[in-house]
Amino acid sequence: MPKMKHVLSLFDAVNVALGAIIGAGIFVIIGIATSLSGPAVFLSVIIAGVVAAFTGVSTAELAKKFPISGGAYTFASRALSPSVGFVTGWVWLFSNLALGATVSLGFGSYLAFFFPSIPVNLAAAAAVVVATLIQLAGVRQSAGVNNVLVSIKVLILLVFIGCALFFFKPSNFVPLMPFGFGGVLAGAAAIFFAYSGFARVAVIADEIKDPVKNVPRATLLSIAISTVLYIAVAVAAVGLAGYAVLAASDSPLSAALDSAGLGFGAALIGAGALVATGTVLLAAILGVSRVAQKMAEDRLLPAPLASIDKRLVPGNAIILCGAAMVLLALTTDLTPIAYIGSFSFILYYAATNLSGIRVLGGTTRHMAVLGVVSCIVLMFSLPSYSWAVGAVVVVLGIAYYVAEKLLSLRRPS
Ligand code: ALA
Repeated sequence: MPKMKHVLSLFDAVNVALGAIIGAGIFVIIGIATSLSGPAVFLSVIIAGVVAAFTGVSTAELAKKFPISGGAYTFASRALSPSVGFVTGWVWLFSNLALGATVSLGFGSYLAFFFPSIPVNLAAAAAVVVATLIQLAGVRQSAGVNNVLVSIKVLILLVFIGCALFFFKPSNFVPLMPFGFGGVLAGAAAIFFAYSGFARVAVIADEIKDPVKNVPRATLLSIAISTVLYIAVAVAAVGLAGYAVLAASDSPLSAALDSAGLGFGAALIGAGALVATGTVLLAAILGVSRVAQKMAEDRLLPAPLASIDKRLVPGNAIILCGAAMVLLALTTDLTPIAYIGSFSFILYYAATNLSGIRVLGGTTRHMAVLGVVSCIVLMFSLPSYSWAVGAVVVVLGIAYYVAEKLLSLRRPS
């Protein structure tokens, strides 16, 4: 069976992370977060960024110890136990499917900004199909395309910040926290979605040149770049339009520019949002298929998912993941699936930090402790239905693991 090769440079790797990070979170979920925190949404962005940084340090340090593909799944399998590793990988798969569906719905929302008659769910499903086909075409090609797309979306966010400066109203920040600090925390839990993706580099470590050095570097660099960008966008958006405009829209950055009479800017940002959500979708499919392939290679998921085709991509895993995302995109709505996705990936980030507590030492271990505590605080700020879905996913994962072990005991070796 062909093996994946170390083909991605540090620059490619940072862009893989930014491709996975900058997307529906800052372009779409910022509206949901603002409805919870009010003008202080930038504080939510900072809190979420700090939690991401704790987990990023754990991810980076664990990636040095285990410089192989699989991310949270590999870390938990090696540092905690194979069974915890399996459940972590299982939650990872689910959360990234939910994340892909959220992002595709974000894509659909911005498309509806341009063409109001297009059904958001259908547009979302079509976006997933296209992204799946692109991933099937091969990772090298996707990395090149990804580098260009990441540059475009960063540039467009900078244009947004630039436009907002001309219409900035400090009075939009008064009162700063109409929903109290609890609202700011709830906003942080929602906008945490915007940081998810930094661990993606660890997931595809096998494809990165010099992974011991480059995986940690790319992880931390991508968190730093996105934090600075997000704080600036949050401040700019509230200063431009006031929190109520952002809170009321599924395409909040375009709505903000529209409210200031900047129709052309709104269209430009809308185009950027389509690129951003499109690239995150690509990254989500890349990530889910790699982890599913790794888990199948480790004989924890059905063997056909382990196969790597002649383009060096896990074809079966990509197709299955695309099909699952299409189904979710057709049957869910943006806000609930965003909360459910956030909950489940905060859960596996907590598992990453637990892995860190187990095998790291010194300051990095303290950071991992802070990571677990802060992940738990954010989880308690999410709605109860996200806990319920998370619990069902974990129970199903445990049931699958036990059933698989029992069956494999019965199989002749
Ligand atoms: N962080 C990714 C996004 O915001 C999931 O779309």
